[in-house]
Amino acid sequence: MQSNKTKLWAGRSTEETNKLLDEFNSSFPFDFRLWRVDIKASKVHAEMLGKTGIIEQADSTKIIEGLNSIYAEIEKDERAWFEARKDEEDIHMAIERRLTDLIGEPARKLHTARSRNDQVVTDLRLWLLGQNYLTCNLLIDLRIVLTKLAERDAEQIMPGYTHLQKAQPISLGHHWLAHQERFTRDSERFEEIRKRLKFNPLGSGALAGTTYPIDRHFTTEKLGFSEPCRNSLDAVSDRDFVAEHQFASSMVMIHLSQLSEELILWSTDEFKFIDLDDRFATGSSMMPQKKNPDVPELLRGKAGRVIGNLQALLIVLKGLPLAYNKDLQEDKEGLFDTCKTLSICLEIMSRFLESIKINSERLTQATGQGFMNATDGADYLVKKGISFREAYYAVGQAVKYSVENKKSLLDLNESEWKNFHPLFDLNLKEYLQPVNCLMQRESYGGTSPKEVKKQIEKVWAYIEKHRQTFQKEGIPIHESNDSCRWSRL
Ligand code: ARG
Repeated sequence: MQSNKTKLWAGRSTEETNKLLDEFNSSFPFDFRLWRVDIKASKVHAEMLGKTGIIEQADSTKIIEGLNSIYAEIEKDERAWFEARKDEEDIHMAIERRLTDLIGEPARKLHTARSRNDQVVTDLRLWLLGQNYLTCNLLIDLRIVLTKLAERDAEQIMPGYTHLQKAQPISLGHHWLAHQERFTRDSERFEEIRKRLKFNPLGSGALAGTTYPIDRHFTTEKLGFSEPCRNSLDAVSDRDFVAEHQFASSMVMIHLSQLSEELILWSTDEFKFIDLDDRFATGSSMMPQKKNPDVPELLRGKAGRVIGNLQALLIVLKGLPLAYNKDLQEDKEGLFDTCKTLSICLEIMSRFLESIKINSERLTQATGQGFMNATDGADYLVKKGISFREAYYAVGQAVKYSVENKKSLLDLNESEWKNFHPLFDLNLKEYLQPVNCLMQRESYGGTSPKEVKKQIEKVWAYIEKHRQTFQKEGIPIHESNDSCRWSRL
């Protein structure tokens, strides 16, 4: 760690800081990944300082050139740049110091009308904007995969469950679309929180604004924000946008986890609804027969850490007075971990779903058992003018009788049926075929393949609409994930 003389904030202190404090205080090992957005924001700040005459134009130009060189340096070898400066307190100090090394005196003017308090939160918002776009992109990819599966499996019958008990026959395509809907809501959640993310805190200073004639609208526009934060105290201390991102991410992880749980069950010998592809399954070190669903299991497990990150942040925030407090530095590690986890989870779920094989025979066979046509038996009578409760009772009796005699409803003959209700007729057998139970559920949003295909059309249109919003806004990809994935810094 630097001696106090080299610390950029040294001034009032006379004694060296304790080494343990330096280590404890440092956020550089994890906020290093903010370097792109930090340079971007500093360049715009310098440009604004020059334009408003707060610093000389020539100095502004030198600062911007210096920052461009630093960008190129880091881009060339991120790791080496970081390793050479491990002792820095945070990314903001590291870049400012490097700028001073490169261009000398003008660098010392960059921090005019700015504090690290507005700087760090500006960086974090910009970085998160990149993550927000990246997440939306990955969600769209997953929704496309699910919708294609729905197209392929619209006619495939399978048991639908409530309480994990067989309930009514459904279309497998319908099942895929149900998951697609969840991820659609997730996409919308990220779109919604993007609106609040796009506020610009730069120019709020340490907490109270500044005495210089800064132009906040200029930096807002140049950085791609929609408007300046309205209150300087709030601007430097607000981390709602981090909490919202953590929540939206947790919700995606919960949806991934729920889907994973089904895939794990379906791959068991007891269900055998799907077969795992060798490329996405692992073996056991001891049991030669094993093919384990590690991908969905890890997806289910990783939901825990993301939800944990949300909780940790909420607890950090709950007791904080205005305005900046160092506790806020704790907003980052959990967020970075969440972003990294979420992006890899979304991507692998898409590839995993594309790889599994559907065991069609087994799905069809499983639909023949378990009295899943009982509701249809009741509906049959209702359509002949009987009240639903009376019809429900008659079929209940038929089910009881069948269980006792180890039969299915389809095994009962006409006279057996008549015992339960005189209005049961010969065509009942046809009516109760699982395929017919499926075909007849044509209500809006229902499971009949015909309706599922209609839904698919709507889903495609919706996905396209989301993709277009996205393109219109422009995606700052460079700020997204690059140093997030590999980084264990
Ligand atoms: N590393 C700090 C953070 O992540 C930057 C802000 C420091 N501000 C301060 N007043 N010490 O929050």
